[in-house]
Amino acid sequence: MSLRQFISARYLLRTFKLVDDAIDTVTDTVTGSWKEVARMFGLHEDLFENPLHKKLSRPVTAILIGAGHRGSIYADYATKSPDELIIEAVADTNHLRVSKAAKQHNIKSQNCFSNWEDVFKREKFADAVIIATPDKLHTAPCLKALEMGYDVLLEKPIAPTEEECRKILQKAKETGRIVGVCHVLRYTPYFRELKEIIDAKTIGEIISVQHLEPIEHVHMSHSYVRGKWRNSEFATPIILAKSCHDTDIIRWLVGNEADNVHCFGNLKWFTNANAPEGSTERCMDGCLVEKSCPYSALQIYFRDRKRLYVFDLPENKNKWDEIILEGLKTTDYGRCVYRMDNDQPDHLTANILFKNGVTAAFSMEAHVSYEGRRTRIMGSKGDIVGDMETFVMTEFMTGKKTTWSMKTDSHGGGDHRLMKDWVQAIGQQNPALLSSSIDLSVESHIMAFAAEKSRRSRTIEDIIV
Ligand SMILES: NC(=O)c1ccc[n+]([C@@H]2O[C@H](COP(=O)([O-])OP(=O)(O)OC[C@H]3O[C@@H](n4cnc5c(N)ncnc54)[C@H](O)[C@@H]3O)[C@@H](O)[C@H]2O)c1
Repeated sequence: MSLRQFISARYLLRTFKLVDDAIDTVTDTVTGSWKEVARMFGLHEDLFENPLHKKLSRPVTAILIGAGHRGSIYADYATKSPDELIIEAVADTNHLRVSKAAKQHNIKSQNCFSNWEDVFKREKFADAVIIATPDKLHTAPCLKALEMGYDVLLEKPIAPTEEECRKILQKAKETGRIVGVCHVLRYTPYFRELKEIIDAKTIGEIISVQHLEPIEHVHMSHSYVRGKWRNSEFATPIILAKSCHDTDIIRWLVGNEADNVHCFGNLKWFTNANAPEGSTERCMDGCLVEKSCPYSALQIYFRDRKRLYVFDLPENKNKWDEIILEGLKTTDYGRCVYRMDNDQPDHLTANILFKNGVTAAFSMEAHVSYEGRRTRIMGSKGDIVGDMETFVMTEFMTGKKTTWSMKTDSHGGGDHRLMKDWVQAIGQQNPALLSSSIDLSVESHIMAFAAEKSRRSRTIEDIIV
């Protein structure tokens, strides 16, 4: 009997001859679930262990394509679990990132590449590739990798157009290779627990969902005003770049195909018209309002030292001041948020109608002080209110409230749980181990493309999968 079964059967408590009433008291007062009992015994990881995981006969080998922020997080899994994953090679146009990855993963110099294309000039030499390049550079390496027989971990968004998404899906089917999409929210304990409760019909039939994606205001300024995703032309529309996670999670929780969507949203605040008097092109150009601006680059990057990964800082911290200040003078991260070439909406709402009649109201908001998705699920027998760390379920008949809570990182602990499932899927050659395989993930993108079309044309769009 596995540890999970052992606890799930409440075997442990019964062995100690606690009567059922007492068991219920223990579990109900905490959260009403056997999982909380397990948690009391410090068995956090066991709770979310996929029972299909096995000890692999050898580690999976992977090539990291794009060793930036996301790629490094996924590759870190190899450092944490070297018996499961080895990073065999790295490709990035940024030589600092190639060197850093090579050092961390002990990669031979002949396996360091300065462009994704060079990887595929060689015969296949690893099990899989991890593609974490910019949004518009997913399709070509992914198609090439599949043609050459590699399995793939593909960052979201899958691709910038619906046509390209479908092409990747088609190629994955043709080649029979595994493509896991980095919809990391599906792997978080929080959303997995919600999904389990919904599927068990504890709150009856789902009637509707309200889901808020708060992009904390500094995060918004960093990524979608100053950063690489600020313009939908050179990145992808924000509903795809940021919110395909949300269309995916809503669709997953509802468990039904989406039928129609309409969407409103615009760029209201981060525009030239709102540039304060006395502001300058760059925060360091003598801006008169720098000290009172919540988006001051000097404050965010230099004084508060936040989101520094874009500056490729060396280990020697003595050099940081100089490099950050130079970055604020020369890169987009030092520019005034009101004088950029950004076009991404800073607020949008989308209403989705599912084929089974469930409705979902989704909001993406930039002007908030907090992160962490807020979700309310309305069911026929109860409801759930949650904020990605805690949720409270209330059952209508009894008024009984059940609280679930777990502190994790800003991705809800999903990044490395995704990696674990992906490595297992590759090692066992079983895509069923992934809850975000390409065929399950494409629909969320089609929902996002339809929402963007609706936003631009003010129409109600059909979602045709
Ligand atoms: N799953 C998530 O939650 C999540 C979160 C943030 C970003 N993303 C997505 O992950 C992807 C990467 O984002 P990031 O934040 O890591 O960006 P990043 O800029 O930090 O990393 C991208 C890397 O790709 C490299 N690159 C560019 N052209 C290349 C080429 N021709 N060959 C090889 N490498 C090349 C860049 O030099 C850079 O190091 C994007 O598609 C982004 O939308 C996903």
